[in-house]
Amino acid sequence: MKINGQQYRTIWPDPADKAKILIIDQRKLPHEFIIESLSSVKEAATAIRDMHVRGAGLIGATAAFGMHLASIQATRGKLDTALAEGAVLLDRSRPTAKNLKWAVDRILETAGKANSDEEKRKLVYETACAIADEDAAFCKALGVHGCSIIEKISKAKGGETVNILTHCNAGWLAFVDYGSATAPIYAARDAGIKVHVWVDETRPWNQGARLTAWELQQEGIDCTLITDNAGGHLMQQRMVDMVIVGTDRTTHTGDVANKIGTYLKALAAHDNNIPFYVALPSSTFDWELDNGSDIPIEERSEKEITTISGMTEDGRIETLQLTSPETRALNHGFDITPARLISGLITERGITAANKEDIHRLFPEKAMS
Ligand code: MRU
Repeated sequence: MKINGQQYRTIWPDPADKAKILIIDQRKLPHEFIIESLSSVKEAATAIRDMHVRGAGLIGATAAFGMHLASIQATRGKLDTALAEGAVLLDRSRPTAKNLKWAVDRILETAGKANSDEEKRKLVYETACAIADEDAAFCKALGVHGCSIIEKISKAKGGETVNILTHCNAGWLAFVDYGSATAPIYAARDAGIKVHVWVDETRPWNQGARLTAWELQQEGIDCTLITDNAGGHLMQQRMVDMVIVGTDRTTHTGDVANKIGTYLKALAAHDNNIPFYVALPSSTFDWELDNGSDIPIEERSEKEITTISGMTEDGRIETLQLTSPETRALNHGFDITPARLISGLITERGITAANKEDIHRLFPEKAMS
């Protein structure tokens, strides 16, 4: 997608040196656009843990390239150990997004097929690139499917603007390209459908305020920032036609883990008969968990709630204390939206109801394994 008119992905190998992986450091956005170079698996794990990169798809791609860096750095005769240690380090960096373990396991499985260290390194690199390319392609495809829902609503409104509410950032910054929740919006725009997006600010990290609003502006999509508390009221006022969010992990029974606050939006949408869709590439499905309540929920630092960062009038980025120093805070990063509140899951293969039978029908190879 575009930044100041120039095409970018969120992660890519340095064209001058394959031993370096380049990322957009999302911590300073939208104020500063910084490209960071990663040269070890440790740096990749830190970038995931400390949210230089974030979002399910991008976490998966970064983990995959982290395994590539581990393979390059391994000393003679130590390649298998380096990959195994790299996998443990990456797996521990963030707990909720399924894409992380999915990507690491896929790399390990492919590496296991090689007959020499040289071939192993080559396969690891090629698989990391394939994971990144697939992530972008799957997001683009789910955009096409999701667009059909927006088109129907637009027709029902006689071509008037479709108002879409989204939470957090499930945009291209959360993936390698296109995004999940935003892909149908970009596809609708490309199809000439009038769209407007309500962007939840998404406290405490403010992914909506800092990332989604900026990303949509860069793509020329009409959007308005709202507080996290505003969505229910706007739905009652009939100012929201549909909700589209992303997910970090979705059980094969249709329960969805997504950024904290998603559940409340789903409840409000349900109460107001507003369609609530979740967009995801299949790498986000957990084919083993039957219950959303078994998804590990990340708990992050209290400081993300008790402080706030932003740009001063003279252009410095500063972090300020919001609360009294004694204030304790609880910072669960995600919540679970039960399948019964979800109108449908938008995937790269099409749209499915959020239940085991329909999900397995769309992905029969997973149902059998
Ligand atoms: O903590 P983050 O920013 O990595 O969490 C990301 C989200 O929860 C997004 O809402 C998104 O839907 C999941 S990633 C596509």
